[in-house]
Amino acid sequence: MTPLITARDLRVSFDLPAQGLFQKPRQLHAVGGVDFTLMPGETLGIVGESGSGKSTLARALIGLVPATGEAVWQDGTNLIGLSPRRMLKYRSEIQMVFQDPLASLDPRMTVGQIIAEPLLTHHRLPRDQVRTRVKDMMDRVGLLPNQINRYPHEFSGGQCQRIGIARALIVQPKLVICDEPVSALDVSIQAQVINLLADLQRDLGLALIFIAHDLSVVKHISHRVLVMYLGRVMELAQAEALYADPRHPYTQALLSAVPIPYPQLERQKRIIPLRGELPSPMNPPSGCVFRTRCPRAQDLCAAQRPALSGQPHQVACHFPGALRPEELAQAG
Ligand SMILES: Nc1ncnc2c1ncn2[C@@H]1O[C@H](COP(=O)(O)OP(=O)(O)OP(=O)(O)O)[C@@H](O)[C@H]1O
Ligand SMILES: [Mg+2]
Repeated sequence: MTPLITARDLRVSFDLPAQGLFQKPRQLHAVGGVDFTLMPGETLGIVGESGSGKSTLARALIGLVPATGEAVWQDGTNLIGLSPRRMLKYRSEIQMVFQDPLASLDPRMTVGQIIAEPLLTHHRLPRDQVRTRVKDMMDRVGLLPNQINRYPHEFSGGQCQRIGIARALIVQPKLVICDEPVSALDVSIQAQVINLLADLQRDLGLALIFIAHDLSVVKHISHRVLVMYLGRVMELAQAEALYADPRHPYTQALLSAVPIPYPQLERQKRIIPLRGELPSPMNPPSGCVFRTRCPRAQDLCAAQRPALSGQPHQVACHFPGALRPEELAQAG
């Protein structure tokens, strides 16, 4: 099967203005050479700390930020660097759902107008057909179709996110990129929205990119998980393999911080602390970008950047594998 997207050496840099009179303009490497594939109907979880480049990566795929490298769509077209006119076709195939449900909905438009908008942009359909499709979609995402003339502020956060999901799905995209779709919602509502997305993904055969801070959020919805750090892929594997046998020390540290729902196990668990601060993406460490915080770093890690290797469990580390007890003792 041909992947829906094949990303190769995808990079995004931002030019920042000089701060002081005598300083040069600086470059910030938000995404520093990312490779991945996404199969049709697959859910890829993307996880990493704030500033690791998750949103920028997503925005690069739909042409919202200038990027270099390749993101080849299944028809062979490289989406990177497409003109806005040629991108339009793919903008209906790739839809986004954003983090802040209310802020991403226009307060002056009714729910019906909001959900219909992508349909009107990308397709010419008679009014009554648009109305029927909007109502069907509202029903599909768990909204009451008779609320079609209400305004976003009349809905709860979880319902607003359902509106955002309906708007994304109305044009029958092949890929929906969800950028922290539940981070702004109450914990009790988060699972409902995640389950809705999982159901829709299965029923409609969609591919999903599901971005989150936290490995626990993407665990049950993802087929594969990609762990990012400072704009680079640290580890990419099948979800079961990644959670059962994380190979990168960064993934191990992230996983060790996820609470275990069994008190006895929770008390026994060792949290692997990350040393120091997140380095600035303006001045990333040489070699492996994670080395300044890694309990396992050696000279080689400063000298040489580890390639992402292994198949199907990919890891970018010179010394991958489970942390040994003495390393754990050192860490914590
Ligand atoms: N338009 C921009 N101009 C300059 N720098 C930017 C811009 N957008 C993002 N950045 C920088 O790029 C880096 C990656 O940001 P990005 O928003 O992609 O991270 P993220 O992983 O989505 O973080 P979060 O979890 O907080 O959403 C950060 O250092 C950020 O400050
Ligand atoms: Mg983000």
